[in-house]
Amino acid sequence: MQANVISNVILPGAKDLGRALCIITGASKGFGRTIAKEISLLLKPKSVLVLAARSDEKLRELQENLASSDAGRAGLVTRCVVVDLGMKEGVESVVRAAKEFSSEDIDHFILINNAASLGDVSRYAQSFTNMAEVDSYLSLNVSSALSLTAGLLQVFPRRQGLRRCVVNVSSLCALKPLPSWVLYCTGKAARAMMFRVLAEEEPDLRVLNYSPGPLETDMLVEARDCTADPGVRKSFSVMFSQGQILTCEDSCAKLMKVLLEDDYPSGAHLDFYDL
Ligand SMILES: NC(=O)c1ccc[n+]([C@@H]2O[C@H](COP(=O)([O-])OP(=O)(O)OC[C@H]3O[C@@H](n4cnc5c(N)ncnc54)[C@H](OP(=O)(O)O)[C@@H]3O)[C@@H](O)[C@H]2O)c1
Repeated sequence: MQANVISNVILPGAKDLGRALCIITGASKGFGRTIAKEISLLLKPKSVLVLAARSDEKLRELQENLASSDAGRAGLVTRCVVVDLGMKEGVESVVRAAKEFSSEDIDHFILINNAASLGDVSRYAQSFTNMAEVDSYLSLNVSSALSLTAGLLQVFPRRQGLRRCVVNVSSLCALKPLPSWVLYCTGKAARAMMFRVLAEEEPDLRVLNYSPGPLETDMLVEARDCTADPGVRKSFSVMFSQGQILTCEDSCAKLMKVLLEDDYPSGAHLDFYDL
């Protein structure tokens, strides 16, 4: 497969992403799994993919698929890290795994903060009296993304010849409040601001907030089936019945194009529909 072909979308003038260490959280299924498959086609031989999630079996299956792909045969190294990123030990394990590959040979460090959960959308904001429940949601969806990013940037500090890029998989919900989605909207808004601050602080770092649009994944099915607010629930049902749901491949192709072209302002919040 040529480096400039993603899911049969031809990218004129596209290059590859170099000899990279690429860490993807939430790679076991959904959008993260698709990102792993598509980005593997854009990495130079001997690049390393670190795949993190809780499901051992699904990660191993993806690892096997990648090993037998063109990228695998060309020398892509894949490492699975089975972790709960809602726990500090989980974050530390991913940082440790990435550290093993912190050699001078890597010319591009890429972190895709994709793992997330929807949270309980079956209730309205005023029912969230249990602080431990809220903290637990924020641990995975906000705290782990910051501490993982910080830990990895320390392992891969700025150096001559190393490009560094951090992607936050964001959502329209970072910008727009949805009734009965208080956890998700809060988490996504906090994350987007976190990465904007990072972009201000680290001028050499490329920071992208990418909002992938509605995707045919387990998360969207949960959104359609569990949302308390009737208006929001209906809008999801309409999206499904009118075929407005995107495939992960279509959305991922736009993300890959943005990464390859590399001309977005660092810290930008880019939406699938605006690209
Ligand atoms: N689907 C949409 O319509 C949509 C729209 C806008 C934005 N997004 C965003 O896109 C990203 C991917 O979502 P998706 O739709 O692909 O969701 P998904 O199918 O539910 O996948 C979520 C991924 O996150 C991992 N994950 C969840 N909890 C985890 C934990 N505690 N520790 C480690 N990994 C964990 C899951 O793996 P394990 O279960 O194996 O741990 C899975 O790989 C998310 O950031 C989501 O907010 C999705």
